[in-house]
Amino acid sequence: MEAVADLAGLEETRVRFLGRKAALTTLLRSIPELPAADRPNVGRFGNLVKRELEAALEARQAVLEAGELVDALEHDRLDVTLPGRTLPLGHLHLITSTRREIEDIFVSMGYSVAEGPEIETDYYNFEALNHPADHPARSLHDTFFVSDDILLRTHTSPVQVRVMEKKRPPVYVIAPGKAYRRDSDATHTPMFHQVEGLVVDEGVTLADLKGTLEVFARAMFGSDRQIRLRPHFFPFTEPSVEVDVSCMICDGVGCRLCKRSGWLEILGAGMVDPNVFAFVGYDSEKYTGFAFGMGIERIAMLKHGVTDLRLFYENDLRFVRQF
Ligand code: DAH
Repeated sequence: MEAVADLAGLEETRVRFLGRKAALTTLLRSIPELPAADRPNVGRFGNLVKRELEAALEARQAVLEAGELVDALEHDRLDVTLPGRTLPLGHLHLITSTRREIEDIFVSMGYSVAEGPEIETDYYNFEALNHPADHPARSLHDTFFVSDDILLRTHTSPVQVRVMEKKRPPVYVIAPGKAYRRDSDATHTPMFHQVEGLVVDEGVTLADLKGTLEVFARAMFGSDRQIRLRPHFFPFTEPSVEVDVSCMICDGVGCRLCKRSGWLEILGAGMVDPNVFAFVGYDSEKYTGFAFGMGIERIAMLKHGVTDLRLFYENDLRFVRQF
């Protein structure tokens, strides 16, 4: 038994000494045919030998099994506690996360989020926003035309008109989305993103606009930020303003980012022009409102110090992975 080297050999040994054709088995089976006087002794000694053989087999089996386990642990080692390999996982693009951040700020102030089509009619993109057919402001937009009357929207402002056509005041909405212009350089791409804002209610003033945008600027760029309003022109607002935020790099002292001015332009805004209300049938004696529009790329560039807008759309992972 000591010479048996493995479990297969042990099984052979068992068959040989205890199997159905083994000498001992044959002997034990022939007991009834033996003379009556021999039966007790042959039975007793035969069974004794059988039990000893069985015990020896069992003992050797235990030794061989233990040896095979050690062997298996040694050679087919599988460490089930090793952490799995992580698969590469993508994440939100900086433009998407910035859009959501802007949405969250306004939703927390009670605004709802509206959407409109990217392929628009001249009416919604220009006319109902108080750009008459020959208005010079139209040429500032570098429009992609689909036909004479159909175009890729040049801003998200047409959503204002679509919202007001469907809903009576009070209106508190923002409208994020894509806009298109024939323009391409370090600060312009043919497709870009804007967030439009519109409030219409009784007694809304320019002070409400300023307070709202100050809350926004501080939530977006830090609680120390100041904003300032500069007079400007947009056809659909009167008065119109451009809004600057105090530079978050130099805190208003003047640096390269803000071109030594201490201020960074973040959006356009104003009080909704009564002509726009007339297009959607709002009573401008009863209601006033403000509107604003900002570029998501511009907000993201300022917040993260990105100096070339085209980087957002080249999908160079070395850039994308930084956010
Ligand atoms: N639509 C303007 C643009 O694309 C941005 C803008 C300015 C939107 C003033 C407004 C606003 O709602 O009141 O340049």
